[in-house]
Amino acid sequence: MRLLLLWLVGLAGLLAACGGAPAAPTPTPDPATLGERTFVQYCVPCHGAAGEGFINALDAPALNADGESHALTDAAILAAIIDGGAASGGNMAPLGDALSAEQEAAVLEFVHSLWSDEQRLAHEDAGGHTPGQ
Ligand code: HEC
Repeated sequence: MRLLLLWLVGLAGLLAACGGAPAAPTPTPDPATLGERTFVQYCVPCHGAAGEGFINALDAPALNADGESHALTDAAILAAIIDGGAASGGNMAPLGDALSAEQEAAVLEFVHSLWSDEQRLAHEDAGGHTPGQ
């Protein structure tokens, strides 16, 4: 009996290791997954499922290749995410309290992924990748 129990415990561990057991939610998903999840949960309600913008009365701008967000520095994008639009009389919600630093960094990378290759290059060339510049 004891042997059988040991065997069962071992089997369960093996299954879990192989992903055969029901998956527990991963506490730290990889940054790309975290960025997408954060975007879906926190940005899509105002900026649209594809970052297309202008989906409700708040008129949040496009964050995808149709918009101009690639012309902002990462510092400016992070400031918008963390502080919202109140300082400039805007309607964007401040999300600094809702998001971890990891989520902020990951969602910033996700916003980059919505741009065209050309826009990403222009953003990098303009020093956009270095917060504070
Ligand atoms: C409550 C609605 C709302 C939510 C939620 C929201 N935004 Fe916004 N966002 C806006 C609005 C409206 C603006 C336009 C400026 C303003 O009114 O503050 C804006 C502006 C921005 C800008 C500046 C764009 C530009 O071209 O100047 C960026 C970048 C941005 N949002 C990114 C995000 C990201 C990333 C998220 C999710 C983490 C997010 N926003 C969540 C409403 C929202």
